[in-house]
Amino acid sequence: MAESHEVQRRDFVNIILVALGSVISLIIGIPAIAYLLSPAIKVHQEEAWIPLGPLDSYPLDEPKLFSYTRTTVNGWEKTVSSFGAYVWRFGTGESDVRVYSNMCTHLSCRVTWKEDSNIYFCPCHDGQFNTEGDVVAGPPPKPLYEYEVKVEEGVLTIKHMEV
Ligand code: FES
Repeated sequence: MAESHEVQRRDFVNIILVALGSVISLIIGIPAIAYLLSPAIKVHQEEAWIPLGPLDSYPLDEPKLFSYTRTTVNGWEKTVSSFGAYVWRFGTGESDVRVYSNMCTHLSCRVTWKEDSNIYFCPCHDGQFNTEGDVVAGPPPKPLYEYEVKVEEGVLTIKHMEV
C-alpha cells in the first residue's frame, strides 16, 4: 500500500515537472519563433517620397539625371537597387516640371539624354524617346515611366514606385 502511494506521488511530481517544463518552453519558444519568422511575414513598403533637392537647382529645358538607391527587404534578403530619374523643367513655375525614369520600357536598359538631338537614347536596341518621354523610334512598347511629383517649400520630391 505504501509503495502504491510512493508511485502516485512520483507520477504526480513527474506530471508537475513536465507541465512546468512545457510552460517554460512556451514562454521562451514563442517569442523566439516569432522573432525568427517576422521578416518573412513583414509587409514592406513599395512606395516612398524621394526628395531630389531644390527645384531651382535644376536647369531649364535640359533634363538632368538624379540617381538614388532604395533598399528592399524580402524576408531575410536585403537588396539595394539604384534608380535614375530625369528632371525636366520646362518653365519657372512649381508645376512646370516632369520627372521620368531612365529605365527603358523595352528591356530595362538605362536611357541617356542626348542634348544634340533632344532625345532620350537607349543604347541596347536604339530606342528613342522625346522630351515628354514618348517613344519616337525603336522597339520600346510604351513611354518612359513618369513619376508623380510635388514641390514643397521649393524642394522637388518624387513618388518612388517599383517600375
Ligand atoms: S532595352 Fe531599350 S530599346 Fe531595348
